[in-house]
Amino acid sequence: MRRPVVMGNWKLNGSKAMVKDLISGLDAEIKGVQGVDVAVAPPAVYLDLAERTIAEGQEKIILGAQDTDLTNSGAFTGDNSPEMYKEFGVTHVIIGHSERRDYHSESDQYVAKKFAFLKENGLVPVLCIGETEAQNEAGETEAVCARQINAVIDLLGVEAFNGAIIAYEPIWAIGTGKAATADDAQRIHASIRGLIAAKDAAVAEQVIIQYGGSVKPENAATYFAQPDIDGALVGGASLDAKSFAAIVKAAAEAKA
Ligand code: 13P
Repeated sequence: MRRPVVMGNWKLNGSKAMVKDLISGLDAEIKGVQGVDVAVAPPAVYLDLAERTIAEGQEKIILGAQDTDLTNSGAFTGDNSPEMYKEFGVTHVIIGHSERRDYHSESDQYVAKKFAFLKENGLVPVLCIGETEAQNEAGETEAVCARQINAVIDLLGVEAFNGAIIAYEPIWAIGTGKAATADDAQRIHASIRGLIAAKDAAVAEQVIIQYGGSVKPENAATYFAQPDIDGALVGGASLDAKSFAAIVKAAAEAKA
């Protein structure tokens, strides 16, 4: 049985006050909730405060980051590295988010190198994949996801997905309120797991596959009721403690 992971991707949102309020609010809201890993990924400048705020609370909230460089130090203006993240207790790092693939021209191969570097540094990659609306309408969703996953398998072998997380995020569903139906998401999740299973059944059985894209308290339970949906990567709704906690609780209930 896979333990679900619900992660909040704060993207470029936050302030010192928000970090404190949101994390302490979340800590209170999820008090005693069992059977689900809860993670937050604030902007890198707030990791220190986030780590300290988590430490003041009762719950074990996992700290994540939103991207990584391919080196641990050097002349790479503006970047952050695994070694730095680890100083702040970060264990999970989102890579290949569609916003980075799009606005920073990150290729499948470049994202695969980030995956490799995170593994090398003992961090959990949260690999985002997903298709555009045009690709969806053209029936290319499975092929796009397979290409993005295969870039990692080609570089590292399928075993690299041991202990890793995949987040299936259809781009047309991100921040639009137009979420994929739970049935459609399940079909894609099953195809992703099948692709991995064809190479190694044990790796496929343990890999966490999150759904992301307009996940809200109102629709979260429908996703978690699906056998191949092991949690969620949440944007907008993770910026409100009550909403995010409701999604966490839906995962705990569905997967109990
Ligand atoms: P929304 O939940 O705001 O649609 O964002 C999803 C996402 O991109 C998480 O990484």
